[in-house]
Amino acid sequence: TDTAPLAGQLLAWYDRNHRSMPWRVPPADRQAGVVPDPYRVWLSEVMLQQTTVAAVRDYFRRFTALWPTVADLAAARDEDVMAEWAGLGYYARARNLLKCARAVVADHGGQFPSRLEVLRQLPGIGPYTAAAVAAIAFDRPETVVDGNVERVMARLHAVETPLPTVKPRLTELAAALTPKDRPGDYAQAVMDLGATICTPRSPVCGLCPWMADCAGRAAGIAASLPRKLAK
Ligand code: ADE
Repeated sequence: TDTAPLAGQLLAWYDRNHRSMPWRVPPADRQAGVVPDPYRVWLSEVMLQQTTVAAVRDYFRRFTALWPTVADLAAARDEDVMAEWAGLGYYARARNLLKCARAVVADHGGQFPSRLEVLRQLPGIGPYTAAAVAAIAFDRPETVVDGNVERVMARLHAVETPLPTVKPRLTELAAALTPKDRPGDYAQAVMDLGATICTPRSPVCGLCPWMADCAGRAAGIAASLPRKLAK
């Protein structure tokens, strides 16, 4: 099947409905040639793991004011970084943050690598963060899969097999939709769709750019997906 129209519909929706965030390059700026700073993309994605966008905003602003570049962060005192991280939780993330900043300086001349495989070798960078940096910062056609994306894919394709078993299948479905054109905007568009329209409890299907193509909606089961194995 031709998946390109789906990506195009979502990108058109994102052009009008994207959320503004301090680490984001809005789609119009990006298309005018503004290039995102990989350091800011990486820092925001690490902060956003297990923390909401609303909670991250002020931390992100403080961090980037104190340490505007990855080299500044790499040169920071551990105690200062841990003190600024206080409140975000998951303190192992802050330790890995510093390790990663120092590795980027020591092994990559202070420039984040753009390739997924090279990003993966940095401390604290797992599959999610590597794909997010490659796609959002470098516009590489990598597939970014978080809980939002899993939910959107399960609904779009009416996948009834429960999580966590179905995770690899949802990743495959997400990869099949990722466009070669504007993959960075596309990655953020799926996350925005999941956060604002295709929400966990009461999805606003009437406003969804994928409404006509959504198998979950057609079957009347969208809100019940993804299913989860009872714990
Ligand atoms: N959640 C995690 N990363 C995000 C991003 N880049 N945009 C929106 N929501 C996100």
